[in-house]
Amino acid sequence: MRINNILIVPPLVAAPMAGITDQANRLIAREFGAAWVISEMISCKGIIYDQAKTWELLAMEANEPLAVQLFGSVPAEVAEAAAMVAEKIKPLAIDINMGCPTPKIVKGGDGAALLLNPKLAGEIVRRTVAMVNIPVTVKTRKAWDANSPDCLGLVREVEAAGAAAITIHGRTRDQFYSGKADWGIIRAVKATVSVPVIGNGDVTSAAEAKRMFEDTGCDAVMVGRAAIGNPWLYRDIARSLQGLAPLLPPSLAERLAVARRHLAMAIERKGEYRGIREMRLQLAWYLKGLPRAARIRDAINKADSLEAIEQVWATIE
Ligand SMILES: Cc1cc2nc3c(=O)[nH]c(=O)nc-3n(C[C@H](O)[C@H](O)[C@H](O)COP(=O)(O)O)c2cc1C
Repeated sequence: MRINNILIVPPLVAAPMAGITDQANRLIAREFGAAWVISEMISCKGIIYDQAKTWELLAMEANEPLAVQLFGSVPAEVAEAAAMVAEKIKPLAIDINMGCPTPKIVKGGDGAALLLNPKLAGEIVRRTVAMVNIPVTVKTRKAWDANSPDCLGLVREVEAAGAAAITIHGRTRDQFYSGKADWGIIRAVKATVSVPVIGNGDVTSAAEAKRMFEDTGCDAVMVGRAAIGNPWLYRDIARSLQGLAPLLPPSLAERLAVARRHLAMAIERKGEYRGIREMRLQLAWYLKGLPRAARIRDAINKADSLEAIEQVWATIE
């Protein structure tokens, strides 16, 4: 896939996930084969008001092929925040969140609420494209709910406004993360726009990724939840897209080794206190499927130092 002059090979994208896809997570995702990674969503107001906590979320490594994702719904604010991020962080692209279903976000007219106002969505993209000289992309959902128009109006507007690629998660806002993603809408978007389309929703294996390409004609697949604590999924999908033979699933020792390295990277960047707290969920997923997974998860949730976590791990090695 190509987004303007950025070549994304293999066409495998790590989904932005608030509280998950920090720098350590993105570096692991890339190492395992995701060719395009996106920051967790960042508040445009937080950028404009220069909140330290907002900028903290934007730590990135030099040359990281990273899109920064912004949420906001006032065109001038999104454009200004994008320009500030472009100058200070120098990402390769800006992605605009038009899909977040969280009440706190949609109440402010942001995220998925933009599905109800395609003209405004277009205006946000138009103003942002005018302010930055990197590609501006959009991530959205199927529709607001089953009774409202689907996202085809929005994708037409944002494409006309200059969006360089569009990601579609095949659920309505109402569905949040439940039910099954409708890949038919991804196919419909692909038939509607000529910019690259990234398909998203429920890809859990290399076979499913292949099926999404075949069923929808999408240009890239984006993987979210199934890769939490399981970066081997990126490896499996990347290998399959490159026509390479599948590898065996990771052993327990390999899972622990990567979990350890991932945690060390988080601690290096955030310190032990925050690093551990913010990685607990992911640590639990690294050990999913173990016979005593629930008990181990509880123990990890109580552990508040690296030493305490090492003690839990020592019981399973
Ligand atoms: C914990 C969590 C946080 C998320 N945060 C974001 C976000 O910040 N921005 C965004 O566009 N989507 C966000 N999403 C949605 C994912 O990017 C993705 O669209 C969704 O999980 C469907 O893909 P999947 O079935 O592969 O998980 C989030 C999802 C989860 C589970």
